[in-house]
Amino acid sequence: MRSSSVKAMWSGLLALGVLAALVLAALGVPVRAEPGPAPYLDPQLSVEDRVDDLLDRMSLDEKLGQMTQPERRYITPEEITRYRIGSVLSSGGSAPAPNTPERWADMYDGFQRAALAQPLRIPLMYGVDAVHGHNTVVGATIFPHNIGLGASRDPALVREIGAATAREMAGTGVDWNFAPCVCVARDDRWGRTYESFGEVPELPSMMTTIIEGLQGDELGGPASVLATAKHYVGDGGTAGGDDRGDTRIPERELRAIHLPPFRAAVKRGVGSVMISYSSWNGLKMHQNRYLITDVLKRELGFTGFVVSDYNGIDEIDGESGFTRDEVAAAINAGIDMVMVPTEWRRFIEYLRDGVKDGDVPVSRIDDANRRILAKKFELGLFEHPMADRTYLGTVGGAAHRELARRAVGESQVLLKNDGVLPLDDDDKIFVAGGGADDIGVQSGGWTITWQGEPGPITPGTTILEGIRAAADSSTAVAYGRDGTGVDGSYDAAIAVVGEEPYAEYHGDRTGDLGLDADDLKAIERLRAADVPVVVVLVSGRPMDVAAELPGWDALVAAWLPGTEGAGVADVLFGATAPTGRLPVTWMRDGGQQPINRGDGKEPLFPFGYGLTYD
Ligand code: GLC
Repeated sequence: MRSSSVKAMWSGLLALGVLAALVLAALGVPVRAEPGPAPYLDPQLSVEDRVDDLLDRMSLDEKLGQMTQPERRYITPEEITRYRIGSVLSSGGSAPAPNTPERWADMYDGFQRAALAQPLRIPLMYGVDAVHGHNTVVGATIFPHNIGLGASRDPALVREIGAATAREMAGTGVDWNFAPCVCVARDDRWGRTYESFGEVPELPSMMTTIIEGLQGDELGGPASVLATAKHYVGDGGTAGGDDRGDTRIPERELRAIHLPPFRAAVKRGVGSVMISYSSWNGLKMHQNRYLITDVLKRELGFTGFVVSDYNGIDEIDGESGFTRDEVAAAINAGIDMVMVPTEWRRFIEYLRDGVKDGDVPVSRIDDANRRILAKKFELGLFEHPMADRTYLGTVGGAAHRELARRAVGESQVLLKNDGVLPLDDDDKIFVAGGGADDIGVQSGGWTITWQGEPGPITPGTTILEGIRAAADSSTAVAYGRDGTGVDGSYDAAIAVVGEEPYAEYHGDRTGDLGLDADDLKAIERLRAADVPVVVVLVSGRPMDVAAELPGWDALVAAWLPGTEGAGVADVLFGATAPTGRLPVTWMRDGGQQPINRGDGKEPLFPFGYGLTYD
């Protein structure tokens, strides 16, 4: 029903109401002839009718506020009310103090009350990167990063992970997840390779089941949060794996490799899409009207809303900061909400100027608001705006950790085994390596902080703790980070080595992709003891190990398993047979990058490779 018929209906009802009031008043019955709730507040009405009614009531400034997303550290609740702000985010690692689930819920509710204090009481959406669990919250379950989930080839498992993540988010109030990344990582030198489910479009497309887990069968159900397919489009195809670089490929290849996961995400009803910092053939995605409006919104039929990346509009002209022209270019390209962490006042001013000067049509502002408001209605935020604290108990709970442990087991890829695996629980085992006893290392980037970091950063089970729990209690499992202490009395030695945590461009590797000197020394010490050596690689991508591999008796790609390191031990001891298969081609040497399925290069291990136990 369009807004004119809604108006006619309501004015008729109003007239009836007034007439009834007059009759009752004549009979001496005290009445208040106030109109009922505004239509947009009536959940019985269709989302379209509610959007129509609300939009009709909004001033330009209220519409601009809905398109503005500041970062939590740079806005007060009072400013949220005053500037009619419609969304706030936590950037990587941006958490309340103390960083507890309850404090998150208090923070969320505080911001939400400020939004509801606006005249039209439009609730805000709070966005966070919960890319492998609710990973900014201490105590949350941290699942394997996407590259490990790609190795599992288990879309049903990934849907469950989405649902578990949504429950942990709902308890803290956070209702918008800037996930999943559906990028197709084509060059392993890229610092975000681990955020990809794999190097071919079929894998991220298959794993868009996580969207159904996060959003539920339909938005607004219990523990339903808005998902975001990111980063549109081609972020994983930049030359040299340069994060935020230039993807220089013909449209045919862009459509064949990088677009399909977004088509799949749209088909699964993803509520938002985030634009990539990268460029396509020299044009910044944040101003690419053809790909955002003509392809994503029209051709793919995406009806959710498009959000920029963090300060993403600043990079359009290659200069720091943003200009009026960049604001107009981004909004006119089809971006509906701008992630503008600090300079949000100036953004609102520039966009208002753009509208007044005719550079940005009011119709574009209205379209952006329709898309944003529709998701807020569908999420049920007008009816249930506050945190649902009944889910607080799920944060880091046993059920979710068990799910994560299963996911870790399914993501392990056995690349070499000369018979040393599976271990026996009464084997005498020596463990070495910087990744063996470190929750921070095994979780990787986007864990508590943006970059992640080594150390006991959040509760969990290290890989060493998992090995000790799996081994027979009478068998002491020795640990020496650098291998000191190993001797020929051990039945096996395990070196857990790889990469220290990183995120985004901080993880770009333009040099070699080999192991660092400490790891290589530790492995050499183990080999010198003349015991079988099992290498467990904790990394966000394949590493250049061809030269050393002949000296190893077994190699397991563990990827970035998260808090449940026992899942690695499950595979090492055979409680779980290894079933993981490579989601990315494993180079013979770093000089082969980029190397992908079907490109004619001779890899060390091909895409899809993975051994199991006899
Ligand atoms: C970052 C990332 C993006 C993330 C956003 C908000 O720069 O590119 O993936 O969702 O900012 O943290």
